[in-house]
Amino acid sequence: MKLLFFMAGWFPLFLGLLLSVVLNISESQTLSFSPDKGTRVTISRQRAMGSDCTVCITEGSKRQCSMETILSGTHKTSVEFTCPHPHQFFTVEINGRLPEPLSSLQLAFSGIGMRQVLPSEMCPGGRRLDPATFHVSVDPKIKTLALVKVTLPSGSSVNEFFSPNYPGSFPDDDLMTWEFHVPSQHNITVRFLKYTEPRCVKKDVVVEYRRTGSAFIGKSLVDPQPSNRQGNFSLSLRNCEMVKKDTPGLTLHFQVSVVKISMQEFCDVDLRKEEGVRLRIEKKGSKSNCRMKKDSVVQETIIIASGKIYNLYFQDCSSEDLMLTINKTIECQQSEKCPVGRVHLSVPALQACLPAPRSITWHLRAPEDGTVELLHPRGNLQQLLLDQPCNANFSLTVNEDDGVTVGSFCPKGPIHKIQVHSNVSVTATPTANGDLSQASKSFLDISFRKDISERYIFAVVPQKGVPVFLATPSWPAGMKAHSTVSWIVSVPEAYHAVLLFLNVSQPKCENRHTVIKVQTLGSREEMFSRREDEKAEDELKVPESFYLNMSNCLPEHNEFSVRCQITLEKKTSHTLGIILGTISALLLLMVLVLIVVCVVIRNKKKQLLANVSIYNPNGGAPGHHQFPKSREDNESHIYASIEDSVVYGHLLQESDYPPHT
Ligand SMILES: *[C@@H]1O[C@H](CO)[C@@H](O)[C@H](O)[C@H]1NC(C)=O
Ligand SMILES: *[C@@H]1O[C@H](CO)[C@@H](O)[C@H](O)[C@H]1NC(C)=O
Ligand SMILES: *[C@@H]1O[C@H](CO)[C@@H](O)[C@H](O)[C@H]1NC(C)=O
Ligand SMILES: *[C@@H]1O[C@H](CO)[C@@H](O)[C@H](O)[C@H]1NC(C)=O
Ligand SMILES: *[C@@H]1O[C@H](CO)[C@@H](O)[C@H](O)[C@H]1NC(C)=O
Ligand SMILES: *[C@@H]1O[C@H](CO)[C@@H](O)[C@H](O)[C@H]1NC(C)=O
Ligand SMILES: *[C@@H]1O[C@H](CO)[C@@H](O)[C@H](O)[C@H]1NC(C)=O
Repeated sequence: MKLLFFMAGWFPLFLGLLLSVVLNISESQTLSFSPDKGTRVTISRQRAMGSDCTVCITEGSKRQCSMETILSGTHKTSVEFTCPHPHQFFTVEINGRLPEPLSSLQLAFSGIGMRQVLPSEMCPGGRRLDPATFHVSVDPKIKTLALVKVTLPSGSSVNEFFSPNYPGSFPDDDLMTWEFHVPSQHNITVRFLKYTEPRCVKKDVVVEYRRTGSAFIGKSLVDPQPSNRQGNFSLSLRNCEMVKKDTPGLTLHFQVSVVKISMQEFCDVDLRKEEGVRLRIEKKGSKSNCRMKKDSVVQETIIIASGKIYNLYFQDCSSEDLMLTINKTIECQQSEKCPVGRVHLSVPALQACLPAPRSITWHLRAPEDGTVELLHPRGNLQQLLLDQPCNANFSLTVNEDDGVTVGSFCPKGPIHKIQVHSNVSVTATPTANGDLSQASKSFLDISFRKDISERYIFAVVPQKGVPVFLATPSWPAGMKAHSTVSWIVSVPEAYHAVLLFLNVSQPKCENRHTVIKVQTLGSREEMFSRREDEKAEDELKVPESFYLNMSNCLPEHNEFSVRCQITLEKKTSHTLGIILGTISALLLLMVLVLIVVCVVIRNKKKQLLANVSIYNPNGGAPGHHQFPKSREDNESHIYASIEDSVVYGHLLQESDYPPHT
């Protein structure tokens, strides 16, 4: 079998047991061979002319020149031609037998590729053979006589192929496959230019077409072949058991033509109902043939905004060629005019002919005395620090009006609420595998509020067993001069928080000081305070929910930035002991108090009873012997009977009734 290729297309080639490659030598050059056992190199004269051109072989110190030669030894041999254009006279043919019968030989023409030609054809350009352009390796056995992998070029082209051994017959009862990689947006058409059919003893000659994911289609050589199809496919040629010595047997010369499909799309975008949006459509690569028009005018970048219908036109623009970014402004100049309640930030409803958005930015403009509050509609947010990956379909970046970043956030985390006393923009960007247009729900809910005491307030709800990392706005850059931030950290009962300052960078201040403060929600006192010129502990245990407040000065040099970690710890049994101890002490105290109260009440009662004791001329009161006697001796306190006037006498002092004696 002999297949002849010239460099042009892109054909890795797999052949069965026997390999034969024909090389055309383009220039006078020295070739060096160290053939394997069983490999034979034949150098033969094509034409009788140019008799001064010979081929010289040097093996060791022996040099021999002749008109043609065959090399079959295993020694290193150098070959030299004595004329300037040997390719006009000589061909070099390498025949090799594979070492193992259960393997195949692969010839890969990386980068440059090959075009198949008839053995009688010459290479048109006579390109210099570069050994780096093809790679020969022994591969696992293949199930067909040969497998040719073809990458069809983009754009329109016609590519020709020949069956093995052409114009001789394809081997008896054998199979050969071509695998075609078809570029996207191209139509391919297969045409059989010339073929001969053998007479068959058994089976039939079949051409099989196969595409990934669908059943193969068998056709005969006379059938119409596929036309205007898209996508990768393979073509297999299967020979029958032929009548012996039948000529010419099975031969096939076919062409695969490739036509680029021009894609046109008219896209009417209605932005009359979407308020405050601006869309920007850009071409991504400079290489693409994509052409865009807005209202019949060709544009490199299309910008459209709310209030109108636009007629867009895309030609040969795939979704990879285009990039759409969306900006939406939500603003209220007076607090009375601000939307009441939460506003959902979600993908604006856009026509399906537009590409998927690469990012969406909401510009949120509050009145001067206003605050923008951000809440995740389904759970909390996590602040992304130090290039942490976001394990969701999108991440959110919050910026202030002047472009300064507050932070980047990802769904699922401890941050329940963010308040910023400034105009902010929120940008949703898809993560690696995400697609923003797939997100049907709100990314974030926002509301406008009255001004707050700090520039930034974060409500943080740590989860048990999950450390929370917090950093000052703009981290790792410094916080804005004179700005203040407060984290309100909820600590569940029976837990305390361990606050750890991981990175604290405090500047030298030109004006005022930087301060880090911790104050529990229930107390007026600060439990921790650290200025830039003070040393303080890096770890702090906080027994209950607390404020972590920080304020920046006007830095002279360096910046103010802090990163810290909060973990919840169960209050230990020691603490519980203290609690129990406190409770028992309290109980004991209560018992004591109760006893004291009882005694006091009893004494009071006794006093009262003593004051109203029944007269006893013998100085004794029946049934009242237990009472102390101190006052019983005092006769002036002995009354004959209980009279209201005695009991309530003090109230009657100023009345008309004279007191009894
Ligand atoms: C077509 O084949 C090429 C090469 O084998 C492959 O990279 C590509 O993904 C295939 N395309 C499709 C749509 O299957
Ligand atoms: C490509 O093939 C489709 C049918 O699959 C046909 O409608 C279209 O006109 C063809 N385009 C070109 C440029 O040949
Ligand atoms: C959208 O907003 C970004 C960020 O503020 C800005 O850079 C960009 O120019 C805006 N695009 C349009 C189309 O307004
Ligand atoms: C937001 O920007 C507007 C001007 O665009 C300004 O009047 C207003 O004071 C800003 N609001 C805040 C909270 O800074
Ligand atoms: C990403 O979006 C897809 C489709 O909406 C959804 O099925 C998937 O759960 C999302 N992934 C995450 C991590 O939220
Ligand atoms: C900390 O900030 C909060 C506002 O979040 C404020 O109410 C509290 O008084 C501040 N505490 C200190 C000690 O600055
Ligand atoms: C923060 O501190 C950690 C160690 O606690 C250190 O590895 C890291 O480099 C610091 N990062 C910055 C930005 O200072």
